[in-house]
Amino acid sequence: MKISIFGLGYVGTVTAACLTRDGHEVVGVDVNPDKVRMIQKGESPVVEPGIEKLLPDAVAKSRLTATTDAAAAVAATDISLVCVGTPAKEKGTPNLDHVFHVCEQIARGLSGKSTPHVLVLRSTVPPGTLEACEAVLARHADRARFHVAFNPEFLREGSAVRDYDAPPFTIIGTNEPAAEKAVREIYKTIRAPVFVVQPRESELIKYLCNTWHAVKVSFANEVGRLGCQLGIDARRVMDVFLSDTKLNVSPVYMRPGFAYGGSCLPKDVSALIHMAQDKGVQMPVVSALPQSNQAQIDSTVARILQMRVRKIAVFGLAFKANTDDLRESPVVLLVKRLIGEGREIRIFDPAVNQAKLMGTNLNYIRENLPHLESLMKDDPVDALKGVELLIVTQNHGDFRKIITEHKPAVKRVFDLAGLFSEPPEGVEYHGIAW
Ligand SMILES: NC(=O)c1ccc[n+]([C@@H]2O[C@H](COP(=O)([O-])OP(=O)(O)OC[C@H]3O[C@@H](n4cnc5c(N)ncnc54)[C@H](O)[C@@H]3O)[C@@H](O)[C@H]2O)c1
Repeated sequence: MKISIFGLGYVGTVTAACLTRDGHEVVGVDVNPDKVRMIQKGESPVVEPGIEKLLPDAVAKSRLTATTDAAAAVAATDISLVCVGTPAKEKGTPNLDHVFHVCEQIARGLSGKSTPHVLVLRSTVPPGTLEACEAVLARHADRARFHVAFNPEFLREGSAVRDYDAPPFTIIGTNEPAAEKAVREIYKTIRAPVFVVQPRESELIKYLCNTWHAVKVSFANEVGRLGCQLGIDARRVMDVFLSDTKLNVSPVYMRPGFAYGGSCLPKDVSALIHMAQDKGVQMPVVSALPQSNQAQIDSTVARILQMRVRKIAVFGLAFKANTDDLRESPVVLLVKRLIGEGREIRIFDPAVNQAKLMGTNLNYIRENLPHLESLMKDDPVDALKGVELLIVTQNHGDFRKIITEHKPAVKRVFDLAGLFSEPPEGVEYHGIAW
């Protein structure tokens, strides 16, 4: 393929070297004439293992050229990859000036072209940026003459060529089959799962990946700081911690939903925070967890209040299905808040039998929902009578069946647990994060 690459920094240079190695023809474009001159001579403007061989090879075979002339590069190619910088502005928001400037340049280049052109944005940008780029292009060129996609880069400096060849996945954010086809063609030789998603989704995924990596580093460092003060070797502890790929390093607990709760998580997070405080160790990531959990309850209450309903049924009171443990159940706190806001609540939870509650479990309920008995219904259909909203808090197969079978009684569902992957027909459906 004939590809122009805008921005010859780390991402652009590595991409140019690897694409030419894989048989494509590349024109590199940069506003910095020094970088252009270096590429023209087969020298890399960045230090990266492997590049020092790939670049001169590509230039010698005339597969790689470089220019400061954007319009000429667009005219000579079918696809433009935008790899310009998106540095942080003073307040932390990304500066997208380079991205939009390149889009203007590409748009002007399109006016002289008779064949369709594909713009592939690779710089890390916030959701909505590809749409803004599309609007820039549409100001200059007929919409049928160009296609756009977002395709984030996952290379890490220092191992960039290796990472380019073995990415975790290839993300293509587009609604246009022609753009998808072009991106697939570029990476034909790369073995990685391909995900075609909405442009905004793809833009967010890139930020989530980097933020998650930062969360991991910070969590490990907080463990290291605490370990030091407790006289414990944090590397040995983390080796064992990481060997659990069932719960610790796994997709478990990584689905958006309602707040965590139960008899262990809130108590043990709080104990660890106090251990750190006692030892004078700063653990801001861990310390923010109760606040984050509370924010999830607050925003759920706010969503429900916005729905302007008075009579509400809640399916599932315990913090998860098939247990009657109500201690620290965030649903108990949710119900308490809704009652405080004057809402009429009925609760159905087949695992909870109030007569059998005892010990700390009973104390928690006495403290938070002293009138639980009057709220609980044994029969789900009874619980649904006359309600304007059903809140489901547990991913319980029986709940799905009840909702499907009693649609006229269930007008509106707020799903906190991912009970439905697709909105059920015939009811107004709201997902907590979907
Ligand atoms: N560096 C990484 O490891 C990495 C990894 C993945 C994603 N990213 C993202 O990729 C993007 C590029 O990162 P980078 O580290 O390669 O940036 P960089 O700063 O190294 O390179 C950007 C290049 O773009 C050039 N440029 C600016 N305006 C231009 C224009 N109008 N036309 C042509 N060239 C122009 C600059 O002169 C510079 O050479 C950023 O959004 C970054 O967040 C970076």
